[in-house]
Order: sequence, then C-alpha cells, then structure tokens
Amino acid sequence: MTQPWTPASWRSLPAKHIPTDYPDASEVARVEAELRRMPPLVFAGEARRLKSLLADVSAGKAFLLQGGDCAESFKEFSADNIRDTFRVLLQMALILTFAGGKPVVKVGRLAGQFAKPRSAPTETIDGVTLPSYRGDNINGMEFTPEARVPDPERLLKAYGQSSSTLNLLRAFAGGGYADLQNMHRWVLGFVDGSPQGARYRELTDKLSQALDFMAAVGVTPETFPSMRQVEFFTSHEALLLGFEEAMTRVDSTSGDWYDTSAHLLWIGERTRDVAGAHVEFAKGIRNPVGVKVGPTVEPDELIRLIDALDPAGEPGRLTLYGRFGSDKIGARLPALMDATRRDGRQVVWATDPMHGNTLVANNGYKTRPFDRILAEVRSFIEIAESEGVHPGGVHLEMTGQNVTECLGGARALSEGDLGDRYHTHCDPRLNGEQALELAFLVAEKLKAERLAGLQAAE
Ligand code: PEP
Ligand code: CO
Repeated sequence: MTQPWTPASWRSLPAKHIPTDYPDASEVARVEAELRRMPPLVFAGEARRLKSLLADVSAGKAFLLQGGDCAESFKEFSADNIRDTFRVLLQMALILTFAGGKPVVKVGRLAGQFAKPRSAPTETIDGVTLPSYRGDNINGMEFTPEARVPDPERLLKAYGQSSSTLNLLRAFAGGGYADLQNMHRWVLGFVDGSPQGARYRELTDKLSQALDFMAAVGVTPETFPSMRQVEFFTSHEALLLGFEEAMTRVDSTSGDWYDTSAHLLWIGERTRDVAGAHVEFAKGIRNPVGVKVGPTVEPDELIRLIDALDPAGEPGRLTLYGRFGSDKIGARLPALMDATRRDGRQVVWATDPMHGNTLVANNGYKTRPFDRILAEVRSFIEIAESEGVHPGGVHLEMTGQNVTECLGGARALSEGDLGDRYHTHCDPRLNGEQALELAFLVAEKLKAERLAGLQAAE
C-alpha cells in the first residue's frame, strides 16, 4: 500500500544528500517551524503560468533558457551580480528568440540555488580530513572544523537572500531595465568587443533592421509598454527537503499544494531514485518540475520516473535535462528520446551541457572546456531532430561576471588563466562573454535546423 502524499511523506523514504549531522535536531525543527511562517517567495499562479509556457516548449512553440550559478553563496551576494546575470540571460534570450523565431522562456537558476549534492562526504587537504562543503545554506566553505558543521540558522539566511534576490529581479523585470532596446544595445556592445564579433554581426545587423522597422511603424517601448518588461522565473534543485516542505503551501485558488520557494524545482542526477524521498516530494507539488537524466539512465527507468512525476501527462509539468557529456550523448540520448516519443509523453527535453563535461586541469582546477559544452548542445539538437523530438532548451551554469572558470571561448582561456578569477563555490561557470558566445552559436545551429526543416517540408 502506498501512503497518501503529504508535504512530509518523503520523510519515511530513503533520502540521499540531506545532512543528518546537525548537532541539535531540535534546532532544525525550530528553524523549519519558523520557515513555515515566512511568506511565500513565489505564487502558485506564477508557477502555473510557467507551466503553461513550458507546455508551449513541449509543443515546439517556445524555447527554454535556464541559467545561473552552480551554487549561490552569501559571499558573492550583491545587487551587481544579480543584475549582471539577469542581463546576460536576457541578452542570450534576445539572440535565441531572433534566430530561433520562437519566444524564449527565461528561468534563472537563482534566488534559492544553495544546497549541493557532493560526490564525496569528506574532503582531505594536506592529511586533514573534514566534512565536505555542502552549500551555504548548510555549512561554510572555509576549510576549518567549525565552518563545516551544519548550522540550521543558515537556512533562514538563505531564505532572506532568496527573498532579496527575487525582490530585485521583480524590479528589473517589470521596471524598465529589461527594455528591448536596452538589451539590443548591450548585445551590440558585446559584439563590438568580442574577438569573434564579425561572425555574429550578420545576426545583429538583421536584428537592428527588425527593430528599426518596428520603430518606423510605431512599435516602440513608449507605444507598447510590454516591450519594457519581461517574464522571468526562478528555479533551484529541490535537495533540502525539510526547507522545501516548509515552503510548501496550499494554494487558495486551486486547493493544490505548491512549493513556494521557486517556480520550478528539479531533482538532481544523484537523487532521482524513483523510490526515494526526492521523487516522493516532487510528486505532490503542482509546480513544473524537472529531472536530470545522466548517462546511466535506461529507457524503462525513465518511463517509470515519468509515470511517477507526471502520471496525467500534463503538458509543461515535466522537463528532462539530459546531462551526458559530449562524448556520451550520442550513445545514450537517442534511445531515451525514442522511448518518450513512442510512448507519447508530453515532456520538455532540454540539455544541461555542463555536468557531463567537467574535468580537472593539470593545475588542479575543476573546469569545463567551452568546446565540449557547445558540442553537447549541438549533438542534443541534432539527436532531437532525428528522433522527432523538439529540442526544448538549455540549462547552463553561468554568471554575468568576468570569471575564469571554463576553458576556451573567443578569448581562448587557458589552464594558466584559470587562477585569475576563479570564484565559484562549486562547479565552473561560463563567464558573461562565454555565455553570450554560446547563445550565438546555439542560435546559428537552431537557425540552420529551422531552415533545413523548412526545406524538407517544401
Ligand atoms: C547541478 O545542477 O548543479 C548538479 C549537481 O547537477 P546534476 O544533478 O545533473 O549532477
Ligand atoms: Co553544478
């Protein structure tokens, strides 16, 4: 007999990557009770709106762009960082919209992306072994015994930071900062400054012409205020289920449960056990949800996961993020896409080209080569086209800052450059320029596929 779902029903199931070593369990319970009284960060109606946009993605009528830090941190928290990541995401969306000829659904990996599953529970440096750093809402990154002790107060601090981040994002999205013509000017600025700028100029010239034409016929931000606004959503991995449970509330309009910590929540590669706690939690919330799908997933296992998370086949409910690695995607993805298509599953298929392409450089830095990231996205689009599935979107680890964490890109970052500005609290991110460059190259690929499709239909 399966138990009825409640926001707490995950507690009786095996739960990986949730800390159990808090010094005082009653303190965790006290903090969770306090979180239960905190206002929601997002509203159920907004989550439903994102679901309807993702339904468009699953039907091939829109494209998903999701991105942000691997892990947000207390130290890197600043209005400038939030603004720069938001701006780069919007610039990327503009490029992808124009080239792909479809609206782009914009989802930040921020305002709650703190907790990290770690491959090892401990870390050893110079013969000293300590518990691993697990994200700023659990413990501290400094390599000291004190910092690595989990502290429930950090959950409240993370809630506060998420709330401030969302407040700023809402102001940016609605208050004129996202004006289409601003975005366009910024894209032109990037192209002028990029060593590869000439390659992108054809697209930006056409975009300039399109905007000039619109202005000439009277379509400007002044006459159409909607051109000064964007819809922007938030997401994070639903890893710390005690926090997510505390943020899960009944929506008074529909009577359904929504996790109000973000619009979209996803389950990671390490916690997607169909019989485990994370899948159980996600089953009962009505938000759009996602699952990472790595190189070991078999088609029948994927179908079981879809049955668990989207039994009704509701368009926009479930997004699958393939994250195989550029060397493995060709062997793994076709059978999985074939299975979802043959079974008539209405899922969004997206690609996370980051997590299968991580390596350790000779000087010890964890990094990712730009070329492999791009290669995985290109393969994803080609495989989707040949399997008769819509290539729905990309999920990236990126920042608006000029960090040096991923190799390559137009400035050909080398291993020797990695130490210059390596700031990530977890995985290496594309910097602002690399992210924009990726958008241009993905746009080229989407456009080529679109033209090939039109020719085939003639
Ligand atoms: C992540 O998105 O940061 C992550 C840990 O990914 P995955 O679950 O795919 O490994
Ligand atoms: Co990551």
